[in-house]
Amino acid sequence: MSPMTRRQLLAAGAAGAAAVVIGGTGLWWTTNKLRGYSSGERLIEPQVLSSSERLLDIRLTAAPAQIQVGGRRASVQAFNNSLPGPTWRVRPGDTIRVALTNSLEAPTNLHVHGLQVSPEGNGDNPFVSVLPGETFDYEFTLAKDHPPGTYWYHPHHHGHVAEQIAAGLYGAIIVEDPEPVPVSNERVLVISDLSLDASGNLAPVGPMQRMMGREGEIVLVNGQVHPRLSAGSGERERWRIVNACPSRYLRLHLDGQKVRLLSRDFGRLPAPEEISEVVLAPGNRIELLVETREGLSPLVATPVDRGGMGSMGGGMMQEGNVSAGDEPVELLSLAVSGASGTAPAPVPNGPPMKDLREQPISARHTLDFGMGMGGSMMGGGGGEANGSMMSFTINGKEFDAERTDTVVSRGTVQEWTLRNSSPMDHPMHLHVWPMQVIESGTQDLSTPRWQDVVNIPAHSEVKVLISFEPLIGRTVYHCHILDHEDQGMMGILDVR
Ligand code: C2O
Ligand code: CU
Ligand code: CU
Repeated sequence: MSPMTRRQLLAAGAAGAAAVVIGGTGLWWTTNKLRGYSSGERLIEPQVLSSSERLLDIRLTAAPAQIQVGGRRASVQAFNNSLPGPTWRVRPGDTIRVALTNSLEAPTNLHVHGLQVSPEGNGDNPFVSVLPGETFDYEFTLAKDHPPGTYWYHPHHHGHVAEQIAAGLYGAIIVEDPEPVPVSNERVLVISDLSLDASGNLAPVGPMQRMMGREGEIVLVNGQVHPRLSAGSGERERWRIVNACPSRYLRLHLDGQKVRLLSRDFGRLPAPEEISEVVLAPGNRIELLVETREGLSPLVATPVDRGGMGSMGGGMMQEGNVSAGDEPVELLSLAVSGASGTAPAPVPNGPPMKDLREQPISARHTLDFGMGMGGSMMGGGGGEANGSMMSFTINGKEFDAERTDTVVSRGTVQEWTLRNSSPMDHPMHLHVWPMQVIESGTQDLSTPRWQDVVNIPAHSEVKVLISFEPLIGRTVYHCHILDHEDQGMMGILDVR
């Protein structure tokens, strides 16, 4: 990990300023990647499906879809013909019912990333297999004290996860706050990436990209190329941002505006934190408060070094630089102009955060995320499609749906050491039970930090605490670089 130097940061900031001068056409849009795409249309948000009388009852169909991406016709896969799929809006205590129909050619299923709901039966069960042509009825209920926040849904059928998410199958979930945060506008921004060939079909993905984790050539916000947002000055907006990219990390900057972090993955920070940049690993979400100031501000994703094959891969893999590009990418532009109305009311503090460090630890576990040469070509249930040269393992083992790797007694607090013995970062995700990060490099963790995807930098270790209550059941933890997950970097825990 080599974090951006101050000089690079300044350079990125300066380029952002230049983009304002040339009218937001964007310096980076001259790169060949975007030739042929039009940009700058008004931001569109996915349709919102809201619960009523404590129930959200919806149908979702995963199917091939023809959509427009940056003015080009694209053949993708989408939920209900929409990329991203519709946004679900629910409240703590609500029941969610989803009839999922599979109109794809491969098996699929549905996972509600981050929601703390039962993983059993027709709950958030990653072992369900919905075959082509079939419909499966999911149903689960959020606890009355379920944390508010921004979550998301996506397929989770082992061996097909990267492929189906890269094709366009994802959508946002909002769990409303018990007490509203005063804002003038709220936006859902689902960030994803995509590679299309000349005729608008999804570009094929080679073994090298699978090994590194595929990064799409164009980065989309709500399925749009570099959309434009507008606001009056002196307003406060709340942006709910989802990183739905299969492998791309996003280091985000919004220069020229006052930006505070309201939430990381889920819940609320006790008080919004002023930030100048924030990094989202795949699967992470953030909520930002943007206090608007006159001007044109691009939201820029600057490159993140997530490691590579280093010395490990030998000659043939030397070229394998993990990131798709070394250039910053402009995701959208916010145009602020005009007079403001009345200043929004102050943001009330969030509830104090739980701190598991005050509780006795009843067990300790180590998970070692490893990569080795000569992975089984059939590895990880993905079959030959994976065709990987590497094995992707946790504690030396590839995923096996029949094996339970970790048995946990309900109600216990455990300390897990997440060790990365490979030269590439792995963002670790645990279903159902959130993790409190207690040790991660030099990060300041004096304020409790809760996440459901925790990055483990190459050749290092991170420690987390997990409280296994009140839910029980058998589910998974895995690397959220979804090609790694599909190739075997996933394990099973059973909480009894
Ligand atoms: Cu967002 Cu198990 O994944
Ligand atoms: Cu998840
Ligand atoms: Cu990984």
